[in-house]
Amino acid sequence: MRVMVTGGAGYIGAHVVRALRGDGQTVGVLDDFSTGSRARLDPATPVYAGSLLDTAFVEAALRDFEADAVVHIAAKKAVEESVADPLLYYRENVTGMHSVLESMVRAATPRILFSSSAAVYGPAATSPVTEESPTVPSSPYGWTKLMCERMLCDVAAAHNLSWAALRYFNVAGSAEPHLADRGETNLIPKVFRAISTGVAPKVFGDTYPTRDGTCVRDYIHVCDVADAHAAVLKQMGSDLSASVYNIGTGTGTSVLEVMAAVRQVTGIDFHHDICAARPGDCADVVADPTKIRTRLGWRSRHDLKGAVESAWQAWSALSRSGS
Ligand code: WQD
Repeated sequence: MRVMVTGGAGYIGAHVVRALRGDGQTVGVLDDFSTGSRARLDPATPVYAGSLLDTAFVEAALRDFEADAVVHIAAKKAVEESVADPLLYYRENVTGMHSVLESMVRAATPRILFSSSAAVYGPAATSPVTEESPTVPSSPYGWTKLMCERMLCDVAAAHNLSWAALRYFNVAGSAEPHLADRGETNLIPKVFRAISTGVAPKVFGDTYPTRDGTCVRDYIHVCDVADAHAAVLKQMGSDLSASVYNIGTGTGTSVLEVMAAVRQVTGIDFHHDICAARPGDCADVVADPTKIRTRLGWRSRHDLKGAVESAWQAWSALSRSGS
């Protein structure tokens, strides 16, 4: 298939491009390079540089590339930022999705794979969460992802599109240093930044109803997330599908356990500071990945240590290179 990946120059997008190409797909990238980097892309990759919000541009790109499918990853994804600036998130994530879907209908592109998030669940869902668990997001970011899933469902029904939404849990790690996450909005890169500058990393709260009082999350290697896209896309090749899948390991890890894994991997015996709980945080968000395993045979292959090791190797390499 000819697959256009929006946000394909980003951390997760570039890993998805790599996995789809490895699976024999022909891949193009549409990116505005606001946070993505050309350094993550093979120079031979067809690139369409521009804004998702420019529907005429997106439609022209889909027609020019003769896309059979879109993998829509481009979005804003920082929970705290979404609370401070919801208009930015509704424009980029929801209006952006509207533009992608309108372009697909005009260009007769029949399939879409959407990057959704565990952030759709919120505190109402009890871990391990299934795809049928309650979805009551606790942030504007989570609401944008849930609204996009609703848009997918309605537009696909009206225009005979095949669609799948992949609800990523906490993504970490890197296949190669140049593909690494250069943002510092998530726990593991924040810990790396702190210990690399001799600062104690912060633990947001230790009085949650969990085994050690700190928040539990499902940390999944970015290569496993990328492989899940290849598996789902392959299944979409043949039939008119409409699916939602949890993309997680099914294993919960607490913040203190992540800190211990970072000490083990880096050899740095750092201290951490216990701070106030972060508003909006849920105590425990862990996937039940049974549905994708039983339907498509996909399961995660890396553990937390593997994710932390690959993330640290990438962080160290990028720090040495000054990039
Ligand atoms: C993880 C845990 C914090 C920083 C993400 C995003 C998004 C989504 C998955 C895809 C929390 C704690 C953090 C720190 C800490 N994935 N923490 N000290 O909040 O689970 O949200 O969910 O869409 O990436 O929505 O990820 O990495 O911010 O935090 O104690 O310095 O680490 O409280 O419990 P989160 P996170």
